[in-house]
Parts: sequence; C-alpha cells; structure tokens
Amino acid sequence: MKARLTTVNDAEGVFNVQKMTWIDSYPNKKYGVKRKDIVERFADEKKFIANTRKKIEGYGKDICGWVVELDGKIVGFSATHKNKGKDLVGAIYVLPEYQGRGIGKILLQKVLDFLKKSKEVWLEVASYNKNAINFYEKSGFHIVPGTEGKHEIIKGKFIPTIEMKRDQ
Ligand SMILES: CC(C)(COP(=O)(O)OP(=O)(O)OC[C@H]1O[C@@H](n2cnc3c(N)ncnc32)[C@H](O)[C@@H]1OP(=O)(O)O)[C@@H](O)C(=O)NCCC(=O)NCCS
Repeated sequence: MKARLTTVNDAEGVFNVQKMTWIDSYPNKKYGVKRKDIVERFADEKKFIANTRKKIEGYGKDICGWVVELDGKIVGFSATHKNKGKDLVGAIYVLPEYQGRGIGKILLQKVLDFLKKSKEVWLEVASYNKNAINFYEKSGFHIVPGTEGKHEIIKGKFIPTIEMKRDQ
C-alpha cells in the first residue's frame, strides 16, 4: 500500500473521505454536535469540491497533500500547511471501513517526510477525539497544555480543540 501526491482529479474523492469521516467521528452528545450539523456543514458539495480543487492547485513548497487509493477509490488523505509560523499536519482522514490497516500511518509519514527540516510539527484535534489523540500519541505527538481552542463547524456551533506537537 502506497500514498501518492494528491492531484486535482482527486478533489471529489478527498471531499468524500472528509465528509464520511466527519460524520463518523465528530457527533458528540456532551458538546451538542449532531450528525445533522455535520451533514449541514457539507451540504454544498459543489462549493466544497471546488474549494478542495483550489487548495490542491496551490500545492507547492509550503502546502501539500497525499492520498491512498484502493479498489479505484480514495480511501484516505493527508495534508500539510503552515499557519502563523507553525508547520502543521492539516488533516489525516481514513474512511471508517479502512481504518486500522496502517493507512493513517503511511499518510502521516508523508507529512513528516515533507516537514523533515522543521524543528516542530503541530496539529489541532477535537479534544474529545480520543481515537485520533491516541493515534497521534503513538506517533510521537503530545498534547500541549494551554492550547485549548474551538473550531466553528456551522454557524454558532463549535467543536472544542486542543493542539499537539512533535519534536522532530
Ligand atoms: C486517526 C486515523 C487517521 C488513524 O488512521 P488508521 O489508518 O486507522 O491508523 P493505522 O492503522 O495507520 O494505525 C497506525 C498506528 O496507530 C495505532 N492506532 C491507530 N488508532 C489508534 C487508536 N485509536 N488508539 C491507539 N492506537 C491507535 C495503530 O495501532 C498503529 O500502531 P502500530 O504502528 O504499532 O501498528 C483514522 O482512524 C481516522 O481517520 N480517524 C477519523 C478521522 C480523524 O479523527 N482524523 C484525525 C483528525 S485530526
């Protein structure tokens, strides 16, 4: 199994992975995040896919992404970008039915290889997303205290976040 660079033709597949993993991972009773909120977030598929294409078109020195394609479909993707001077794991998403097969690890390795000259690699994760936090801890990241934040998923509805860091 191999990851390859994302191309503009992957935009729809990448969007699909993002939508399906969000629906699977982010609904949360305690924080009032409902499945329908996530569905609403991704309702304008055309706009999302067009935005994804634009991002992919911008790939270069500071921003890049990879996909794993199996059985002719995109089953996972990762991406990296810089934000406020931080080198970030922007995303790692693997379709639920393909998780636990080593795909996330391959996709994360692509990001780490791309950022091999960075002193530190950062990421932001939903603070209740224990699966992802465990995965990242296993990969050498640790939670940075005092980095709690929130991410607006639809107007007025937020997911609580925390940052993690890995010293290279
Ligand atoms: C988190 C995610 C990317 C991991 O990808 P994956 O393909 O399922 O993980 P892998 O099979 O590559 O696992 C890699 C390693 O992490 C470990 N791991 C994976 N999930 C784990 C978990 N929940 N708890 C502990 N360890 C875990 C595996 O055991 C494996 O260890 P090994 O290297 O010793 O074999 C994937 O489950 C996912 O897409 N989740 C939903 C979306 C999400 O939360 N993304 C992160 C957003 S910030």
